[in-house]
Amino acid sequence: MTVDDAQGGGTGRAAGYGRSGRAADERGGVPTRSTSRDLERYAGLFASRTRVMRSSAMRDLMAVTARPEIISLAGGLPDTSTFPPATFAAVAGRIAAESCARALQYGPTEGLSATKKCIAEVMAAEHMAVDGDDLLVTTGGQQVLDLVTKTLIDPGDVVVAEAPTYPGAVPVFSSYEADVVQIDVDECGMRIDLLEETLDRLEREGRRPKFVYTIPSFQNPAGVTLSLERRRALVDIARRRELLVLEDNPYGLLRYEGSPEPTLRSLDQGLYVMYLGTFSKILSPGIRLGWVAAPPPVLEKINLGKQAADLCTSTLSQLLVQAYFEETPWRAYVDSLTEIYRARRDTMLDALAEFFPAEAEWTRPAGGLFIWVTLPDFIDTTDLLARALRDNVAFVPGEAAYLDGRGRSSMRLNFSSSGQDAVREGVRRIGKVVSEQVALYGTLTGRRGAPVRRPEPARRAPPASEPSPEVAAGTPSEEPVARVVPMRQRSGRA
Ligand SMILES: Cc1ncc(COP(=O)(O)O)c(C=O)c1O
Repeated sequence: MTVDDAQGGGTGRAAGYGRSGRAADERGGVPTRSTSRDLERYAGLFASRTRVMRSSAMRDLMAVTARPEIISLAGGLPDTSTFPPATFAAVAGRIAAESCARALQYGPTEGLSATKKCIAEVMAAEHMAVDGDDLLVTTGGQQVLDLVTKTLIDPGDVVVAEAPTYPGAVPVFSSYEADVVQIDVDECGMRIDLLEETLDRLEREGRRPKFVYTIPSFQNPAGVTLSLERRRALVDIARRRELLVLEDNPYGLLRYEGSPEPTLRSLDQGLYVMYLGTFSKILSPGIRLGWVAAPPPVLEKINLGKQAADLCTSTLSQLLVQAYFEETPWRAYVDSLTEIYRARRDTMLDALAEFFPAEAEWTRPAGGLFIWVTLPDFIDTTDLLARALRDNVAFVPGEAAYLDGRGRSSMRLNFSSSGQDAVREGVRRIGKVVSEQVALYGTLTGRRGAPVRRPEPARRAPPASEPSPEVAAGTPSEEPVARVVPMRQRSGRA
């Protein structure tokens, strides 16, 4: 069932087209689903890759969660209402007065050097030194994912990603027809032992992955952070095996406790690590400004890809960032966000303990925007979402974070975009529908308490790249409730 099914009008997941599949109703201009007749008309014209393109679960959800009555714990949105309008006015006014013509003009594909200076400042805040020539300014971090994949992946090439992975990366990898092998994470991030095993197996099969995609700090969606030991091991593997790593780090500066780990880029000195950064979570996603730092030969190819994609990143946005950095101490705003999000995270953790049944498990992130909840395996969170939407609350079903059909009993909850009262109320509503499902299962099966979960098999993976059973299933848990993804948990009644 898709989100639109939940609204009573969808055509089902198999169609694989979300908002992009809508057509304007000729009578009233109201968007409606394409009919099968509409599709037939154009079917012969689509590129074959469109058959494997996937709609982004989050994009689909945004259409639904825009309704004011819905409490959305689904998006990955920062709370832009915290940004001072006076600062925005000052920055915009300054651009209008000082560089209006320039702001309205095209710019160089690689980005403005003034913007690169701001980027260097942000990277320095995470103890990374970078040369402007090693940077390319992009239209959000999302474009980095697209350009890197476009640059490195031919159909069938292997990308190694975490399990679960960033749901927004799933449509990117799918549209370039990558064969994605997902490695389980636990409370210390990606399981490097499983990564090594998988790389060995792929090597025996004569398949060399093009890159490893990882979000080491406060991972989206699981909230976990790669330990220092594993960071070192990953960088070592990249060197030994001459393997590129894409380090995606939108959340590193949104830390609520503990001390930072070094980035993979700083450990590797930019030899095999491509680094993705973005202003989306520390300033604004609306300005669509991100960047990539990569080894020069790789960056040159990425630049060519960007020329074809959009010529250059918005000059206006780049000047906005430059003026903002000159106008006001940007770290102070990040610090204020950190305070606000820490309180919301704590509210969500407390509400989970209060309202979720004992059978549920969840992660406790030290930063970032997300908590990952794992439910008993008889609950399908995609179906649960339809039920939750009737109670005006939304989350991202775990399936969106996998390319192999796993994750169906998990969900991602966001705590940054709603106030504390809404976070608590949203969790209460979801907890209620989860509890109903658990009670129903108990009534139907006569079983009480926590049902033992079987390790979840990967549902779809091409044979050549299929993870070994250990990779697919993870290490068996000794907990009475077996896990889908083995992460540190705080159970509701613990
Ligand atoms: C892990 C990760 N990577 C990339 C992005 C894309 O961010 P943007 O394009 O807004 O910079 C996001 C957004 O949520 C994200 O969570």
